[in-house]
Amino acid sequence: MDDQIIKTLLIEESAEETLRKSEERFRALIERSYDGVLLLTSTGEITYASPSTHSILGHQGDELIIQNAFALMHPEDSPKIIPKFQLLLTRPEETLTAEFRYQHKNGYWRWLECTGTNLLENQSVQAVVVNYRDITERKNNEEALMQAHNKLEQRVQERTAELVAANSSLREQITERKRAEAELQRLSHRLVEVQEHERRSIARELHDEVGQILTGLKMTLELTRRLPPETANSGFEQAHQQVNDLLTHVRNLSLELRPAMLDDLGLLPTLFWHFDRYTSQTEIQVNFKQAGIEGRYSPELETAIYRIVQEALTNVARHSQVNEVTVLLWANPETISVQIEDQGVGFKKESVMAAGHSNGLTGMRERAALLGGKLMIESSPGSGTCVTAELSLLKPTTQQTT
Ligand SMILES: Nc1ncnc2c1ncn2[C@@H]1O[C@H](COP(=O)(O)OP(=O)(O)OP(=O)(O)O)[C@@H](O)[C@H]1O
Ligand SMILES: [Mg+2]
Repeated sequence: MDDQIIKTLLIEESAEETLRKSEERFRALIERSYDGVLLLTSTGEITYASPSTHSILGHQGDELIIQNAFALMHPEDSPKIIPKFQLLLTRPEETLTAEFRYQHKNGYWRWLECTGTNLLENQSVQAVVVNYRDITERKNNEEALMQAHNKLEQRVQERTAELVAANSSLREQITERKRAEAELQRLSHRLVEVQEHERRSIARELHDEVGQILTGLKMTLELTRRLPPETANSGFEQAHQQVNDLLTHVRNLSLELRPAMLDDLGLLPTLFWHFDRYTSQTEIQVNFKQAGIEGRYSPELETAIYRIVQEALTNVARHSQVNEVTVLLWANPETISVQIEDQGVGFKKESVMAAGHSNGLTGMRERAALLGGKLMIESSPGSGTCVTAELSLLKPTTQQTT
């Protein structure tokens, strides 16, 4: 053989050998790689699947060959990935990456991260080379993180809403408290006014009535002292009468101020006593009915009810022009109520209340309010008057009694 020919053959043989070695090296790299490698045609048919396809997707490499790569892609992901693949086809030698779900042989979806390189025009490859790896765990972690974040976000929002609600309810409570404090302040001013009013009327009573009688008594005694003993008797008689009047006045005044009976015997006996006395003084009959009144109530409640009845009956005597009045008193476990009703001349409630100088009606209303109760007044000219007070038996009371 010609030397030249032998030389050429040797060169060809060593070139083939180099190529074979290089091919073996790349094959070994691909086949031992943990990541998967696919070769695709321009229509997405799989022409090669590396052995790691088995560990990643459960398929033996050749099971995937001649399948379309998009057939096992999640239907929600393929509409995004196919256009990307088509874009890649227009860009030789370029690389694009994408993440999508792909079906494992066991039927479950795995998340894959892929890098596709368009080597269709490369003579030694003539395929789209896809390198892929399973990122399901990372995706799951991301998803769990996202859920935890959302949960946290939701809790923050809920807590914020709770705080906002608590804040606004606190504000409401503060406003309500301020309102209650202002009302209490107004009532205590009013209480002082009422006490002043009562003191004035006691002072007037002492001055006009008791003082008058005492002055008369003093004069009688002075006159009697100057009389001769045989005629002094009539003077003593007169003085005796004046002392009797004085006793009656002082007793009445004391009863008006506060009947001791109310503390000693309670509400019902005191009311009965008051009705008798009222009828004998005014000739107005009291029709009284009660239901559910048993035992004793707190001194504040008994005083309030007694004072309300006393003032309402005084009003009937002073204003209504009737000769009978009905008083109802009833209690249940929560409230005690009293109603005083007459069929007399009545009055125009709005104008009387607006006039602002009705101590009696206002006083009744304030007494009820101080005990957490309420007072209703119904009246109109010509059709009588009905006053109803309802007081709570549940609310602890600490008010003064007068
Ligand atoms: N039962 C009633 N029938 C008719 N009018 C009434 C009756 N009760 C109250 N009134 C009217 O309402 C007004 C206000 O009553 P209120 O008891 O507040 O004051 P007063 O009786 O006039 O004076 P006081 O402050 O001494 O009680 C009375 O002046 C009267 O015109
Ligand atoms: Mg009155």
